[in-house]
Amino acid sequence: MTQYVGAIDQGTTGTRFMVFDHSGQVVANAYEKHEQIYPKPGWVEHDAMEIWENTQSVIQEALSRADVDPEQLAALGVTNQRETTVVWDKDSGRPVHNALVWQDRRTTDRVEEIQEAGKVEEIREKTGLECDAYFSATKTEWILDNAEPLKMSSSRGRDLRARARDGELLMGTIDTWLIYNLTGNHITDVTNASRTMLYNIRDLEWDDELLEEFSVPKEMVPEVRPSSDEDYYGHTDPDGFLGAEVPVAGALGDQQAALFGQTCFDAGDAKNTYGTGSFYLMNTGEEAVSSDTGLLTTIGFQMSGEPVQYALEGSIFITGAAIEWLEDVDLINNAAQTAELAKSVDSTDGVYMVPAFTGLGAPHWDGRARGTIVGMTRGTGKEHIVRATLESIAYQTRDIGEAMEADSGVELTSLRVDGGAVKNNFLCQLQSDILQTEIARPEVDETTALGSAYAAGLAVGYWETIDELRDNWQIDREFEPEAEPATVDAQYERWADAVERAKDWARD
Ligand code: G3P
Repeated sequence: MTQYVGAIDQGTTGTRFMVFDHSGQVVANAYEKHEQIYPKPGWVEHDAMEIWENTQSVIQEALSRADVDPEQLAALGVTNQRETTVVWDKDSGRPVHNALVWQDRRTTDRVEEIQEAGKVEEIREKTGLECDAYFSATKTEWILDNAEPLKMSSSRGRDLRARARDGELLMGTIDTWLIYNLTGNHITDVTNASRTMLYNIRDLEWDDELLEEFSVPKEMVPEVRPSSDEDYYGHTDPDGFLGAEVPVAGALGDQQAALFGQTCFDAGDAKNTYGTGSFYLMNTGEEAVSSDTGLLTTIGFQMSGEPVQYALEGSIFITGAAIEWLEDVDLINNAAQTAELAKSVDSTDGVYMVPAFTGLGAPHWDGRARGTIVGMTRGTGKEHIVRATLESIAYQTRDIGEAMEADSGVELTSLRVDGGAVKNNFLCQLQSDILQTEIARPEVDETTALGSAYAAGLAVGYWETIDELRDNWQIDREFEPEAEPATVDAQYERWADAVERAKDWARD
């Protein structure tokens, strides 16, 4: 019986299950979207139960479509939208509130309070992160303070804080939520832990002072394991939905999974993933490089029994979601149309679009920035706005590229790209022009799922070494800069002006 490795890729807009063979080729694939819940401006929630149900159904659908028996899965890997936070009741397994999504800005006031209390440096030093509502710490705190206590017999009317202290509630990011539902064990991996703003990335343990600062009882945080774990996080229940006992042995936050799937195993290797947002990561090896330019220091991956590998990260909150917005407001019918419309004009005619819909992430970190279009005239057409939106993706990436070179001292010669939007050749060429760097697009562009399959497959011996995986990485197409550097630089300066106008806009 041929063996494969399965990967659950639980992203912001939907859940994918993919099955890979030994050469890293896709054997099966199924995808389902879930509801985006926007209770108030700036608030974003997901129903964690819906996510778990969709996870089960995409697994079943992919396996049956490709006629793969669950027994043929040598291992399962999990990769996930990061930072999104779930708190659930240990007994019933039911969430006490919707998950607070990474894009959710409701805790901005609380973050500003912490900033004003002078805690930014301490947080940066311990966690590698900017003090921001993006991460799980203030989201967990908000749920414990605000979720209505569920009327359960075990709760006896006590508030959530008391229940959390008594070990009756568990918290986790989406990997943890899925691993718990798959195996019954409360576990996360180091990369996901590193996104909570509660985990010390140098000492590699939950930080007692930060847990106290955010009133998160230690009883509710998961055990932290390597991203590829020879001890396995657990097994699926043979009497459960899958009907087989499969080891769950790999987990990585989606951006770290893409770094791994792009085989960026060595210091200096970098990738950018174009999803809802874009996340540009550079492997910095065993050194946790601190940033002077607003990048994050984060954990890249950890193999069983080996030291942690760190990464520098530029987190751009909105890129693909800006294309979705063009669709929502009927400027386009589908994403594929953007290239055609953008190409129908030579330039944006001076229009710049800054899609700061949920504030600005790296390198600006402005939770109060909001989406802005500047430079419109009576002659501005939808094609200019569409082109400006595509350009905003490339300019935001250049913001990160510049910061990355300054922090790492490494001049980027080639950037590996992946994610849905890189199918768009126009965007890849635009990115190469604006970054003035070669762009390398691999054959398998679902590198996020592939990375977590690799982590799980290495843990169970399906693949022996990471060197074996390098051979699987094949280039589909390379894009070289064609635009004049002086022209691009002048436009990039105007972009920087437009960003300034988007900043600090939202008021309570
Ligand atoms: O940090 C957020 C990131 O992990 C979300 O990724 O692909 O779901 O937009 P994606």
